[in-house]
Amino acid sequence: MPISYHEQSRVFRLDTPGSTYLIALVDDEGFLAHLYYGRPIPDCDLRHLLRLEEYPAPSQRNGERLTFYDMLPTEYSGHGVGDLRESCLSVETPQGARACCLTYLSHRIFRGKPKLEGLPATFGGQDDCATLDLVCQDPALGLRVHLIYTAFDHLDAICRSVLVENVSSSARRLNRVLSACLDMDNQAFDLITLHGCWGQERMISRAPLTWGRQGTASLRGISSHQEQPFLALAEHTATQTQGQVYAANFVYSGNFLAQVELRQQNDLRLVMGIHPTDFCWNLAPGARFQAPEVVLVYSSAGLDHMSHTFHDLYRRHLIRGPYRDRPRPALINSWEATYFDFDTQRLLALGRLAAQAGIELMVLDDGWFGRRNSDDSSLGDWTVNEEKLPGGLKHLAEELNKLGLKLGLWMEPEMVSPDSDLYRAHPEYALKIPGRAPTLARNQLVLDLSQPQVRQAVYRQISAVLRSAPIDYVKWDMNRTLCDVYSSALPPQAQGELYHRYVLGVYELQERLLSDFPHLLLENCCGGGGRFDPGMLYFSPQIWTSDNTDAIDRLRIQEGTALVYPLSAMGAHVAACPSHINRRTTDFITRGRVSLPGCFGYELDLAALSPEELAAIPAQLEEYRTYGHVFRTGDYYRLASFRENHEYDAILAVTKDKSLAVIDFVQVYSRLEQRSLRLPLAGLDPARRYRCQKTGQVLSGAGWMYGGLPLPKLKGDYLSCLIVLEAVEG
Ligand code: GLA
Repeated sequence: MPISYHEQSRVFRLDTPGSTYLIALVDDEGFLAHLYYGRPIPDCDLRHLLRLEEYPAPSQRNGERLTFYDMLPTEYSGHGVGDLRESCLSVETPQGARACCLTYLSHRIFRGKPKLEGLPATFGGQDDCATLDLVCQDPALGLRVHLIYTAFDHLDAICRSVLVENVSSSARRLNRVLSACLDMDNQAFDLITLHGCWGQERMISRAPLTWGRQGTASLRGISSHQEQPFLALAEHTATQTQGQVYAANFVYSGNFLAQVELRQQNDLRLVMGIHPTDFCWNLAPGARFQAPEVVLVYSSAGLDHMSHTFHDLYRRHLIRGPYRDRPRPALINSWEATYFDFDTQRLLALGRLAAQAGIELMVLDDGWFGRRNSDDSSLGDWTVNEEKLPGGLKHLAEELNKLGLKLGLWMEPEMVSPDSDLYRAHPEYALKIPGRAPTLARNQLVLDLSQPQVRQAVYRQISAVLRSAPIDYVKWDMNRTLCDVYSSALPPQAQGELYHRYVLGVYELQERLLSDFPHLLLENCCGGGGRFDPGMLYFSPQIWTSDNTDAIDRLRIQEGTALVYPLSAMGAHVAACPSHINRRTTDFITRGRVSLPGCFGYELDLAALSPEELAAIPAQLEEYRTYGHVFRTGDYYRLASFRENHEYDAILAVTKDKSLAVIDFVQVYSRLEQRSLRLPLAGLDPARRYRCQKTGQVLSGAGWMYGGLPLPKLKGDYLSCLIVLEAVEG
């Protein structure tokens, strides 16, 4: 059992293969102290790490309790009675008092993992993991708080969530409920976060941790292009393969806070959860609030092990549905091919070329509904535009099916255009503040998905469309951040619940879609990669990574994405050149190599390609079908980063049984070199022998890894090569 309670030392221990996590009960009152998190250790009684004897001794604490509260490494911080670090839980009584102090009440340890009601979360059965439900209380508030921890048997991941129950006889108002807190000593840490903007999502930032509060947050109502609900503390000396890393990722798609506070004694507190700004939750007597889950990953072997743990956890215990383990169809998306300018004939012409080249699915992007010929109307009116598509989607799908292609469809169910029948009939369905003109973005407003009748109005329409034709894939888009966050359906004291209720509404809609259409391959999207988070991965096995389809910019975007998320989740398409984003022209084969590790597709007008480019597609698809699975199901290693060296990029993926390794190398800038580049590899079995498919050379895994792979000299910018090593007997 990876979780146990040790009566004598009054310590809870959580063990994963490569980590130990200890929680101690302190004093008769049962304060919950965080004792240890790091490399596996057999001991429980590490109480000396709390330095309790250095604070006011227990007998004196009543006179100097504040120091005790403010110094104790705490498992989950309360509020307002002395712990002056970041608070995790703030609760208001009807009298207006805001304080909370938790002590131990009871606990339960069991195999498996319970679901989080209404929320996406990692899952695991009796054979995968164990859970600790650590129940705390604040008797003065009549509040019960469940700190829920799941430790996975085979992964260095601990998932935490918090459930708050009002057991008093009057109302309580939660002003903040964060999901995880981690107090520890600073160990010369760097802080790693992922920042960006539209078209440049998840840029890796790494800088020494400094005094005070730092981290990342979103107040955009979505996890956002700008910030990612992820942070890691890595020792200064940590590399891809060495050093300690503590990472946290929030399984949530709305406002979040991810923060580290470095304090007076070089101690730190890491917190993660729903951002407290503009948040509240009213708890009637007997009511509960479930806060979303935080995934903690510990690695004593650098960033690669951290990434592997996230990837494996998400592939096996977060992503669901028939496509989780299935090869994803190679697709062609109409957006960069036609934008709004299409009709059935043009789509079928594209479809014919696609089918000839071996593509399996055609995604009809924006513009098929209402009067939508530009982005200024019709969101909310999900009826087919028969002027463009006579015979509707059914006719189009049937014609595509005859060509051997399946049909996929774009939709943006969370939005409404002011110029739409839905908005004209129901202006109260949009988020807006009474007496204020709502702020438009991309000419659209956000639907108030906290209202059940709004969800129903949208769902009725989109489900009818999906029933009207054989549609195998949906791209669920969301093209603006939230503002004017006010609901005509909520009372004044509950307006602070709206951001979270919105996210719950999105989750409910997607869950309903998947249960009514279980065959669907769902790809989430948010103006590119603005909602690439574990919450969305629970619903869709793949997410559109970025609207930036330039192969060279994609290297950095995909590097940042793959730091946390499996490659099997990354939508990656070969797009036209000059790039519609930055006018750069790159080699067609290289564009394929950059997309190869992800969910592969094309996003261009096949009719506009040169005969050579068109002829190259079958070989590109063959490469994807033969080797793509190694990236999507195997272990990923970052060998070289263009972000760091400004010249070239290289990733390696190896199957779990270490029998096949694929190296995807992109030379961004031509190098003036007399000697070839030698690339040290990773992830092979040092004792096995591997043959290089290109040269026939056979060496031990150790030879390839430590001696390095000599790369072919490539003459020119934006070139690439794929090198395959296969294990051989003897
Ligand atoms: C967003 C998406 C694009 C495309 C357009 C359509 O920007 O990220 O891929 O679907 O919307 O309007």
